[in-house]
Amino acid sequence: APLAVIGVPTDVGAGHRGASMGPEALRVAGLIEALRALDLTVHDRGNLGGPHNPWQPPVAGYRHLDEVVEWNQAVFRAVLAELEQGHFPVMLGGDHCLAMGSVGAVAAHCRRNGRPLRVLWLDAHSDFNTSEITPTGNVHGMPLACLCGIGPEPLTHLTGTSPAIDPKEIKQVGIRSVDAGEKRLVRQHGLDIYDMRFIDEHGMRRAMEQALADMTPDTHLHVSFDIDFLDPTIAPGVGTTVPGGPTYREAQLVMEMIADCGRMASLDIVELNPAYDEHNRSGLLAVDLVESLFGKSTLMRD
Ligand code: ARG
Ligand code: MN
Ligand code: MN
Ligand code: MN
Repeated sequence: APLAVIGVPTDVGAGHRGASMGPEALRVAGLIEALRALDLTVHDRGNLGGPHNPWQPPVAGYRHLDEVVEWNQAVFRAVLAELEQGHFPVMLGGDHCLAMGSVGAVAAHCRRNGRPLRVLWLDAHSDFNTSEITPTGNVHGMPLACLCGIGPEPLTHLTGTSPAIDPKEIKQVGIRSVDAGEKRLVRQHGLDIYDMRFIDEHGMRRAMEQALADMTPDTHLHVSFDIDFLDPTIAPGVGTTVPGGPTYREAQLVMEMIADCGRMASLDIVELNPAYDEHNRSGLLAVDLVESLFGKSTLMRD
């Protein structure tokens, strides 16, 4: 399917400013040209617009809730419109709160078309917080809980129905930072998490085999790639670094295994923050990995 690249320049869900520069940094790093070089048809839709970052402290457990809602309504509409035209949406973040809109649209589309959904969440964090348990009030730490129906009404009902997704549809890989209350919640909801302990013991290959297992030929696989998934020594350009992440080689294998499974139908690339980067190094790395995600390989293609 033709790709529809949608920039979502927002940092209203984060506790650091600058992820709003992510879409431009990914374009400057050559993302569009790299995708076209793989013979993909790419429509670059430019950036969505939305409220600016008022840089206020959290209110009742949420920072910038109204702004987050407005951005996500725009993301939801834009992504659903692309899916309805048969396009493969690629979101350039922006902070990870945008996944409420993108995954919400994917879920609505799958529901209408009777297609099974799987969400592969590549991240250092579980992003399953609520206003009661969040240590920060940052909504980029809450998108999966909201998608599973836990959160404020305007965020849980973006798609009209709540919950938008079932926890069973989620697979998380690379996790190494889960807050105290969040731990209880992810266990309670039975999230399937391949954390760094699992990866250390069994290897990335086994983690990915299991995360990608049991999909049917018509499964829609949504990949939500938070750049802080990567070890900060290779990807310093994020607001919330956590040491001990996947190496370059492990990350390449992740991308190649996703490409090989042949089910990916939508993608978020989020949390790239050029204000924390070194000469766009993390942006360039993201482009390199996304090439593998779309099938670039050393030996299999000219
Ligand atoms: N768990 C922390 C919080 O809720 C960090 C979340 C980081 N999320 C992200 N998408 N980078 O504030
Ligand atoms: Mn078209
Ligand atoms: Mn995240
Ligand atoms: Mn993260």
